[in-house]
Amino acid sequence: MNGARIRPAVAALAAYTPGEQPREPDVVKLNTNENPYPPSPAVAEAIRRFDAELLRRYPDPNGDRLRERIAEIHRCRPENVICANGSDEALVWCARAFGARGDPIGWFDPSYSLYPVLAAAEERPAAPVPLGPNFEWAMPADYRAPLFFLTHPNAPTGRAYPRARIEEFCRRNPGVVVVDEAYADFARENAADLALAFPNVVVTRTLSKSFSLAGLRFGYALGPADLIGALFKLKDSYNVDRLTQEIALAALSDLDHLRANVARIVATREAAARRLTGLGFAVTPSEANFLWVKPPAALPARTLFERLRAERIFIRYFPGPRTGEHVRITVGTDAQMDRLLAAVERLL
Ligand SMILES: Cc1ncc(COP(=O)(O)O)c(C=O)c1O
Repeated sequence: MNGARIRPAVAALAAYTPGEQPREPDVVKLNTNENPYPPSPAVAEAIRRFDAELLRRYPDPNGDRLRERIAEIHRCRPENVICANGSDEALVWCARAFGARGDPIGWFDPSYSLYPVLAAAEERPAAPVPLGPNFEWAMPADYRAPLFFLTHPNAPTGRAYPRARIEEFCRRNPGVVVVDEAYADFARENAADLALAFPNVVVTRTLSKSFSLAGLRFGYALGPADLIGALFKLKDSYNVDRLTQEIALAALSDLDHLRANVARIVATREAAARRLTGLGFAVTPSEANFLWVKPPAALPARTLFERLRAERIFIRYFPGPRTGEHVRITVGTDAQMDRLLAAVERLL
């Protein structure tokens, strides 16, 4: 009988699968691209200072102090900014707001596996674009989409694309291009300025990765005021709670901490990439906080994933034709990477 009660597209939906969150504290957790270092001390201070009595009242529905701070960072106006309960929430609004009912939604294959779920939930056809053999940019010259999710740097591959290519695509695609920049702080270049220069570009950002605040749930979108205004119509009235607003503001006020944190991760990423290459892995050049690697033939990706799991080292494996020969390893601390690499050497 449920078949009659549930919208058929929802009944048929294959939900997004998040990475495992083990309860045991002793797991070396390199599976969900979290940051291994603590957030800014300003975050702990904001939590200590927070007056619980304030929770009686609803939060600022628009998070205006945050929008002002984010506008200052990106040199734009608060009208160009919307706050979200994690950048995933902003991606959901984009799938609902941009393009007409039944219009296709595009993304690169492989990229973030949430996009197909969003398209299916909106009953919109998928128009994926295959990446090149080494997961490089391979956009056909005549490709157009009413909405395209462009992950930059890409996940799960970590690859950044030439900025000129991104810009050229944004210029010629008449539809909206949402540049999902969850990992942009780890990259050399980003596209935030395109969201402020083009009428059809939105950029999404998150505090989950580079700011070490995945547990907080805060992200935002930048873009032309009319597109951002459309997203405002779809958001829940109080989508970002009071405590999150205070904490996010504290984190966004300490960019020195962010820069030092990112520098450590990038150094560890490069060292781990060299060592994995030395062990015979094919390492995709990464500009994110994770590595996309193909193990040597003696140790197929799924086997590596399972054996490491048995040793309580969690990485991520995505079965499937384009992804099944690789694993994704989040960059942890140097000590965590040493443990991972020692285990890999033993398994080889
Ligand atoms: C490409 C990409 N976009 C967005 C997100 C979601 O981030 P948030 O925690 O801000 O919802 C992730 C998280 O893994 C991601 O990999």
